[in-house]
Parts: sequence; C-alpha cells; structure tokens
Amino acid sequence: MQVQGKAHRSIWLSDDRQCVRVIDQRRLPHEFVTAELRTLEDTLAAINEMTVRGAPLIGATAGFGVALALHADPSDGALESCVAQLIQCRPTAVNLGWAARRVAARVRPLAPAQRFEAALREAQAICDDDVQSCMAIARHGAQLLATLEVSGRPLQILTHCNAGWLATVDWGTALAPIYRAHEQGVALHVWVDETRPRNQGAALTAWELGQQGVPHTVITDNAGGHLMRQGKVDICLVGADRVAANGDVCNKIGTYLKALAACDNAIPFYVALPYSTIDWTIASGEQIPIEERHADEVHSVVGRDASGGCTRVRLTPADSQAANFSFDVTPARLISGLITERGVSAASRDGLASLYGPGEQVVNQ
Ligand code: MRU
Repeated sequence: MQVQGKAHRSIWLSDDRQCVRVIDQRRLPHEFVTAELRTLEDTLAAINEMTVRGAPLIGATAGFGVALALHADPSDGALESCVAQLIQCRPTAVNLGWAARRVAARVRPLAPAQRFEAALREAQAICDDDVQSCMAIARHGAQLLATLEVSGRPLQILTHCNAGWLATVDWGTALAPIYRAHEQGVALHVWVDETRPRNQGAALTAWELGQQGVPHTVITDNAGGHLMRQGKVDICLVGADRVAANGDVCNKIGTYLKALAACDNAIPFYVALPYSTIDWTIASGEQIPIEERHADEVHSVVGRDASGGCTRVRLTPADSQAANFSFDVTPARLISGLITERGVSAASRDGLASLYGPGEQVVNQ
C-alpha cells in the first residue's frame, strides 16, 4: 500500500538477500522507520517486542526467521530449535507456527548447504501468497460492502485493532475490502477503535487509512456500542488471530464486546482472514491460548510530547495491579460471516468446509 504516495510492503528481503527489512511499527504514526533483521535473535526480538505484529505478518517474519537461523547454522538441531523458539514468542496467532513449520518442512529433506536459499524462497513464497490472499479478501469483501451501500450518506464501518496492510504483508484483511471499495468510488467512513492498551487502532489503522485517503474517525474503545445504538454503524469488520474449526474467532481484546453490541443492534459483524489463520486442530475457541502481555502496557501509554519526542507516561497509581489479556474469543453465533480468499462463508464448521476441502484442512497441524 502507499506510504507518502509510494508503494510499500510491511516486510521485504534486502537486495543482497542477506537480511530482511520491516517497518518498525512501534514508532508509527509519529515516525516512519525501518529495521533490519539479520539473525534469528533479531527476528525473535522483533516479534516479542512488537516491532512487527498482526497475525499474518508475524507468520511471514517467522518464515524469514527460520531462513536467517539456517544462514548461521544449517544443521538439523538448529532447524528444530529455531522453530521451537519462534513458535513460543506469541501464543495466540496461529500463523506464526504455521509459517515456521511450513519453511522447516520445505528444507528438512535437503542437505544443510542447500537449506538457507531454499528457506528464503519459501519465506518469500509465504509473503507472496499472503498478498494474493489479501487481494482476494479485498475483492470478496468489497462485493459484500457494495450490497450494504446506502444512498445519500457514506457507508459506516467500525473496525477494531489493526487488521490492515501493516498486520499482513500488504493490503490487510479487514481493511482490504475497505481499500478496494474506496478505490472503486464507494463513499465510506471508518470508525477506528483506539484499541488499548497498545493503541493499534489509534496509531496504526488511523495512519494507514490516512495514507490511503480513506475518511475515518478514531473513537475510544467504549464508544462503539453507543454509535451502534444511534444507527451510526452499518457493519463491523475485524480481523482474526486464530479461527477454530467451528468458526469461533479469536481477535484483539475487546472484539467480543463489539460483536455483542452488534448482535443486540442487528448490525452485521464480519471477520476477514486468510486460510493461514484457521486452526483445524482446535474444535472451538475455548481451546485457543490467550496471550497475556506485560502489565506495563496497561499502566502507561506512549505518545509524542510537545517537544516532538516520544514519551511514556504512567496512568495508574504506583501500587495498583494491572492485567493485560491481549485477545478474546467471539463465539461463531455472534458472527454474520467469514470473509476469506475463497469467498464469504458462514462462521461454522460447515461454512468453512464449503470453502476448504478435507485435504486442505491439515495446513496448521
Ligand atoms: O497484538 P497484535 O497487534 O499482533 O494483534 C493484532 C490483531 O489482533 C489483529 O486484529 C489480527 O492479527 C488480525 S491481522 C490481519
């Protein structure tokens, strides 16, 4: 997508194929800075510290992480160890393990000397597949948005967290249909949940939408229900970090409350995701591990101060405890449909089976 009018991906291989470059998402929206990953350790730190984040993007990064590990040591032991280390960085997004295992499976039968180049090619293929998937999600989702178009005013869409191109390799999942519809001339406006504690909505989604010229308004996390009751939301569109085989969706904390409010107000609630986000091994959302991050993310916020520098400021009393649950599960019964690269389905086992055959339901195992 566009950054100051120039096409960009969120991750790319350097020209000399020796390192991987990413956008440092901790610095947005105030600064556009890229970072270099040269080693497995760089990759682990980038995922752990959320230099990169978003389920498909951490998958793509992990794929390259396997290649970088093999550059240093192409042995069997190093291969198995790097996969294990990458998978445990962030437990909820299933794309992380899926991508690391896909690259490992591709190179395991090869002689050690061939592994680094083969791993790079597979990681690059993961990136290219992700872009194709997101573009297909854009097409299917834009068709859905066209059916909701209202005359005389822009279509009002509410989104949570960041499921845009920064969370994928390009285009995004939930934001992809919005970009496509906007390009096609559909009048629309996006309500952007700020998404405490890390504010991916206020910082990243708002920045992305601004770069593409999409009209949007940032709202506090608790405003969505009020707007829905006022008739100011036509559809909720969110991404996912893991979808269980029965269509339950795990996404950024707060998604469930939006789905409840949407259901109470008869507002369609759709989830956009690529196949790499489906975990066929998990029968329901109850079994999805929920990441708990450091309490400091709740105790404080980072922002730009009057002098132009970025500062972290404390919000809570010095002796208060804080808990930081990063994700929640929205039961399939609250979801109007899943928008995938194959089309739109019901959020159910049968709905997913209508898009993916039995032979394809092993990708995350
Ligand atoms: O903690 P994050 O920023 O990695 O969480 C990201 C989300 O929850 C996104 O909504 C999700 O990964 C969908 S990304 C296309």
